[in-house]
Amino acid sequence: MCGIVGYIGKKEAYPIVLEGLKRLEYRGYDSAGIALYDGKNLKLSKTKGKVSDLEKKINQEIPTNGSVGIGHTRWATHGIPNDINSHPHYSNSGDLVIIHNGIIENYASIKKELEKRGYTFSSDTDTEVLINLIEDVKKNENLKLGKAVQIALNQVVGAYAIAVFDKNKPDEIVVAKLGSPLAIGVGDDEFFIASDATPFLEYTKKAIYLEDEEMAIVRLNKEIKIRKIKDDSLVDPYIQELQLNLEQIVKGGYDHFMLKEIHEQPEAIKDTYRGRLLVKEGLIRMAGIDDNLEKFLNANRIIVIACGTSWHAGLVAEYIFEDLARIPVEVEYASEFRYRNPVITEKDVVIAISQSGETADTLAAIKLAKSKGAFVFGLCNVVGSSIARETHAGAYTHAGPEIGVASTKAFTTQITVLTLIALKLAKVKGTISKPEFQHHLQELELIPGKVEKALLQDEHIKTVASIYKDAKNCLYLGRGFNFPVALEGALKLKEISYIHAEGYPAAEMKHGPIALIDEHMPVFVIATKKGHYEKVVSNIQEIKSRKGKIIGIVTEGDIDVKELADHVIEVPETLESLSPLLTTIPLQLLSYHIAVMLNRNVDQPRNLAKSVTVE
Ligand code: AGP
Repeated sequence: MCGIVGYIGKKEAYPIVLEGLKRLEYRGYDSAGIALYDGKNLKLSKTKGKVSDLEKKINQEIPTNGSVGIGHTRWATHGIPNDINSHPHYSNSGDLVIIHNGIIENYASIKKELEKRGYTFSSDTDTEVLINLIEDVKKNENLKLGKAVQIALNQVVGAYAIAVFDKNKPDEIVVAKLGSPLAIGVGDDEFFIASDATPFLEYTKKAIYLEDEEMAIVRLNKEIKIRKIKDDSLVDPYIQELQLNLEQIVKGGYDHFMLKEIHEQPEAIKDTYRGRLLVKEGLIRMAGIDDNLEKFLNANRIIVIACGTSWHAGLVAEYIFEDLARIPVEVEYASEFRYRNPVITEKDVVIAISQSGETADTLAAIKLAKSKGAFVFGLCNVVGSSIARETHAGAYTHAGPEIGVASTKAFTTQITVLTLIALKLAKVKGTISKPEFQHHLQELELIPGKVEKALLQDEHIKTVASIYKDAKNCLYLGRGFNFPVALEGALKLKEISYIHAEGYPAAEMKHGPIALIDEHMPVFVIATKKGHYEKVVSNIQEIKSRKGKIIGIVTEGDIDVKELADHVIEVPETLESLSPLLTTIPLQLLSYHIAVMLNRNVDQPRNLAKSVTVE
């Protein structure tokens, strides 16, 4: 996710765009830039770092006068965070300038074509390719900017929210949207453009939210014209009167970032597999794996190193890799691995998982593994983070910034990438049949819709949360692929509600923990239909006979657990190996609602930091 802001009108653009970027930093904060037009000159300043860094730099670089401006705060997807890769981007002629939130999947092939026509590129971004494609179309067909943007966008595949300005046509800004949000603030002969309404809320409450595949020419002294990009048909602008306040908009209308990020998971999972999961072609495309396939295929074993929730994602990966790709996997706490003098050889492949890409223990463990000759693959959410730069190769989760300290969408997008890797290796090794492989691809593609459906249980989950919010201890049980989800569910509850909770393999109860069971002990049991179901049902009976309170996370339509448990929460059916992507949803919501009912600081729980960059 990135933040885009634009202004065209009678006021000075710079203060509006700068403040707007500050309000959008929650969407991305690795680099920022602003372009301004003062009636004569198109000026631009951009930098790696935060908007505050841009504020310092811009005042040394360019005069900030001008009544047209566009600005961008970046969350890198293509090209590491640095000055050159930050937005806005000029076209080769310097006449056009663009800001972009999204991913152009086919940028590489377009770039090759433009290079053949003599275009040069200074950055590694897909965005610089897009602005030069627009320039190429505009020049070759002698078109106005709006038409050129429309034709160019019909050639790209991916997601975008863009604002484009032509210094030779300074009374308009062209905007377009597909897959990323874009709002237009309608003022009194002035217009605002932004990823959400926070940058212009104090100037106007009137907003138009473009729909997918719509574009608009925002022109002074003119009515806004909105068109369908595909067929150029006109769309009647629907101007909304905004009711939300600033804080509510930053959180997408949710009360907390954590809840927003829980509900972002369908989109986040889609963004994570976009361009990688090719169901029709029966393919998985991941450069970091494709370029290092032999290392994975010849590995003695895969060692996963991570901390916290990322470690739980690694544990899910152990079950998936061994089940599908038949590759031995060991999952290590990075903090233990780095000090226990582990046996590491050049035949080992290490997968380091980290949302922030800055966790000190994980970084140290990577360096140790590298020093012993292992090949290290990084799985991060923050592009250009320390771990992303330290590892030999890697993949990003494209989940967008995760602001809530409690990790949610990072967990499900990590599992998504790890599943893609396991499936790819399984296919190459022939450890699963072609039909089985294809079935997994199809099922994975359905997961975002099934997560949506699981989220619909929120009201019921809130009711269950209200019953158990005063518990002093809770147990979480799961088997197989869902044992790590039991651990993750317990961690979520602990870290935001401060209630003690433990996750256990369901069968492990009789080796001690069952002594804890009484009528005061809520036990959350993951009992999916295809996950050793009968065995879990007997574990539930053991708990029930000792008066334990049972909350079952079950496959929709379940009957047996429903008869035994005090409550059940249903998730849609899927392959057992994919079920963690669904069973974790009710546990995230349960911990969230209990924490809210206990008046905890949900987004910033006591004693915790979003990224543990010290030992
Ligand atoms: C999980 O909710 C916590 N925020 C914490 O356990 C976190 O997963 C852990 O610190 C690892 O962080 P990383 O993924 O950024 O390396």
